[in-house]
Amino acid sequence: MPDTEPLLQEEIQKRRTFAIISHPDAGKTTLTEKLLLYGGAIHLAGSVKARKAQRHAVSDWMEIEKQRGISVTSSVLQFDYEGFRINILDTPGHQDFSEDTYRTLMAADCAVMLIDVAKGVEAQTIKLFKVCKQRGIPIFTFVNKLDRVGKNPFELMEEIEKVLGIRSYPMNWPVGIHGEYQGVYNRRKAQIELFDTEGGHGQYIVPSTVGSVEDPSFAELLGEAVHQNLKSEIELLDLAGDDFDLAKVRRGELTPMFFGSAMTNFGVRPFLEEFLRLAPPPAPRRTDAGEIAPDDGRFSAFVFKIQANMNPAHRDRIAFARICSGKFVRGMEVYHLQTGKPLKLAQPQQFMAQDRAIIEEAYPGDIVGLFDPGVFGIGDTLCPMGDKFRFEDFPVFPPEQFARVQPKDSMRRKQFIKGITQLTQEGAVQLFRQPDYGVESFVVGVVGSLQFDVLQYRLQGEYGVDIYIQHLPYVMARWIAGKNTQSVNLSGDLLVLDRNEKPVALFRSEWSFQNTAQKHPELEFLVVPRRG
Ligand code: G4P
Repeated sequence: MPDTEPLLQEEIQKRRTFAIISHPDAGKTTLTEKLLLYGGAIHLAGSVKARKAQRHAVSDWMEIEKQRGISVTSSVLQFDYEGFRINILDTPGHQDFSEDTYRTLMAADCAVMLIDVAKGVEAQTIKLFKVCKQRGIPIFTFVNKLDRVGKNPFELMEEIEKVLGIRSYPMNWPVGIHGEYQGVYNRRKAQIELFDTEGGHGQYIVPSTVGSVEDPSFAELLGEAVHQNLKSEIELLDLAGDDFDLAKVRRGELTPMFFGSAMTNFGVRPFLEEFLRLAPPPAPRRTDAGEIAPDDGRFSAFVFKIQANMNPAHRDRIAFARICSGKFVRGMEVYHLQTGKPLKLAQPQQFMAQDRAIIEEAYPGDIVGLFDPGVFGIGDTLCPMGDKFRFEDFPVFPPEQFARVQPKDSMRRKQFIKGITQLTQEGAVQLFRQPDYGVESFVVGVVGSLQFDVLQYRLQGEYGVDIYIQHLPYVMARWIAGKNTQSVNLSGDLLVLDRNEKPVALFRSEWSFQNTAQKHPELEFLVVPRRG
């Protein structure tokens, strides 16, 4: 049912919704900030970054504060640039929060992979790249910190191909002396752009000089040798490199590559402009009833993130929903598939740097923050009234570390259960119950150990509950399915129930799991729970 309303089409075509993926320290915060600066959303760089807690103050608490700081203030940033409406989805940098990042990537239409020119492709980048690759979304590469000495650009192209298995197409190329680059060469326009980055850390938009590569004044500005070198490198790229192929870019098979320095601002605007030209507007999304196109007149969205207590003064819970089709209007009624009930979306919020504002309408590609009275779960679908479909399954990450948690003060039991239940709904931890234990003790599973600290910290800060955490020696969880799950003989391993009362075995080792599985050919041991 495509909607012919021209306004809806126009709004969709101008949307660009993406996430920046990188290894910590590659410069994601800095680049995000510079994009906001060039988009006119902030006027002096430093305002976003100042909120990020001082790095390398390496206590775990600081890490947590930093994580909270980032996700609380900037879960999504929206700004306009030359007719485009841009949504940048923020993803936590710390690897223990990669689950959160993976889910956020589900809401993005493409990704910008940020690479430190000196460090090349790093561990966290590889993981996140794989998730994007699996989804088949376009991936753009920004090589950052070109103001410093780093790897040779040709070497980086090779590394990207070797490590990530994707060919790259440099859209621009660094100009100047290695380690002291002054600008970029735009291959599409055959133009050089030199930036005046003298003095200062790019707090303001930097002035630049643009002109044809053949313009003799560049030979003077750069020096004859540097100018010649640039020309021969470009010739080499044209001869030996891949051809530009937009279809391949859109399928995630070729990554357009950019060079620049988020700190000094060189290459930031050329990146933004080419990126916006090449990045896709919102695309159709898969549901269990077939694809739904963004210009389908019916409204649909899915929840990809839940954040409780964003504002401690209000104790609210916000569900972040990505709009997939149709127009969103404040106060509209939608069908919430998971509870089977209609829902009125009364106080939608949108996020702009640190501020939030009530919004009246939004379009595919946009993210709205919905007040959550406790009904939403991650991955939930919001359908138009009268329809029933579900967006494709969200990735689930099986926990690898386990601990028994209980409140220090049994008088705080009610708050403890409330807190831990809410944090489970947020997807921060997975909760299990040991059948023969009382209701005060839970087994909690996490993917990264920092999540235990966050749990402890947030239960204390948000619910006033101090907890004991007793680490358990298990390393993997398997959901048990079959006729007689009670009969399972786990010897030294642990049987628990998930929040839907489904039996789960926690194993001490891969060997122990294999052993049990062999002894019980009649049972199935699943990495994720079976639906229904
Ligand atoms: P992240 O969000 O990816 O973790 O990285 P962030 O932007 O915080 O940047 C990490 C460090 O790299 C910061 O230095 C930042 O200033 C620096 N950086 C970012 N982009 C560039 C660049 O283009 N060139 C150079 N030379 N450095 C860059 P810091 O010393 O940790 O912090 P600060 O004191 O500069 O704030």
